[in-house]
Amino acid sequence: MNTLELNNGLRIDQLGFGTADIGDDEITKNAVQSAIDVGYRRIDTASYYDNEHVIGEVISNSDLPREEFTIATKVWNSDQGYDGTLNSIQTSMRKLKTDYIDIFLLHWPVPNKRLKSWKAMEELYESGTLKAIGVSNFTIDHLEELIQHSPVPPVINQVEFHPFLFQSELLKYCNSKDIILEAYSPLVVGKKFNHPLLQKLSETYNKTPAQILLRWGIQLEISVIPKASSFSRIQENFYIFDFNIESEDMTDLSSLHEDLRTNWDPTGVK
Ligand SMILES: NC(=O)c1ccc[n+]([C@@H]2O[C@H](COP(=O)([O-])OP(=O)(O)OC[C@H]3O[C@@H](n4cnc5c(N)ncnc54)[C@H](OP(=O)(O)O)[C@@H]3O)[C@@H](O)[C@H]2O)c1
Repeated sequence: MNTLELNNGLRIDQLGFGTADIGDDEITKNAVQSAIDVGYRRIDTASYYDNEHVIGEVISNSDLPREEFTIATKVWNSDQGYDGTLNSIQTSMRKLKTDYIDIFLLHWPVPNKRLKSWKAMEELYESGTLKAIGVSNFTIDHLEELIQHSPVPPVINQVEFHPFLFQSELLKYCNSKDIILEAYSPLVVGKKFNHPLLQKLSETYNKTPAQILLRWGIQLEISVIPKASSFSRIQENFYIFDFNIESEDMTDLSSLHEDLRTNWDPTGVK
């Protein structure tokens, strides 16, 4: 597995397992167990996904030690603010059955609250309860503001990112500040597998469109966190380290940009 070094020295697997909206507890449990069986060790969740208790159960019942896993979770908007964030972290740890969180993220740049939330995260980072802290859905403006206000820069900015939403300026900015850009919805939520270029590259490399999309992210040296429900798809998404997309094909993929957002858009959030 390829790894990436965060700006605080922690190393994480470049590929993680996304867990939003997998299904009910039983379906989620089976998917997370499948991911672990396949070899994923990094799991992305959030209090908003209402599945931390399932992930906590699977990990605590695993034969693998807790330290083998990198768990990322997030504080939801209604809990933001200093006290709310502290409470949210305690609740997440209880549900995840753990006394530390590897990566804790601000889910959304909530106006008037995000800096207070960050202060709480910063304190628990300094005390060692949170091993790394980062953000999600932050624009360049939000990142600039945060960096100016805090001595602790975010390790990650988790945003929607795929060839159809190739946020090149944000990527450049994150690289310049040593913040890992983490791509959510890296499979475009399954909406573009039939695109002619993906079909063509799929034939050229003898890989599926999903594997082409994920490999594009891997070669951009960003983090990717695809979600899948069935064992076969979870496994397919894991086998992306045994081929290389040629540079012309990388360029063609990056040219697919059409500003397509499958999710929420933080542009313009003050
Ligand atoms: N921070 C945020 O605001 C935010 C927002 C959105 C997502 N996220 C995170 O990012 C993760 C991934 O994003 P996402 O779930 O929105 O979308 P995604 O990973 O781009 O796509 C997931 C969809 O693709 C399908 N799929 C997965 N692997 C496939 C394969 N090999 N072949 C065909 N179809 C496949 C899945 O179907 P099945 O499930 O039926 O297998 C599911 O419908 C989330 O789970 C979450 O952890 C974060």
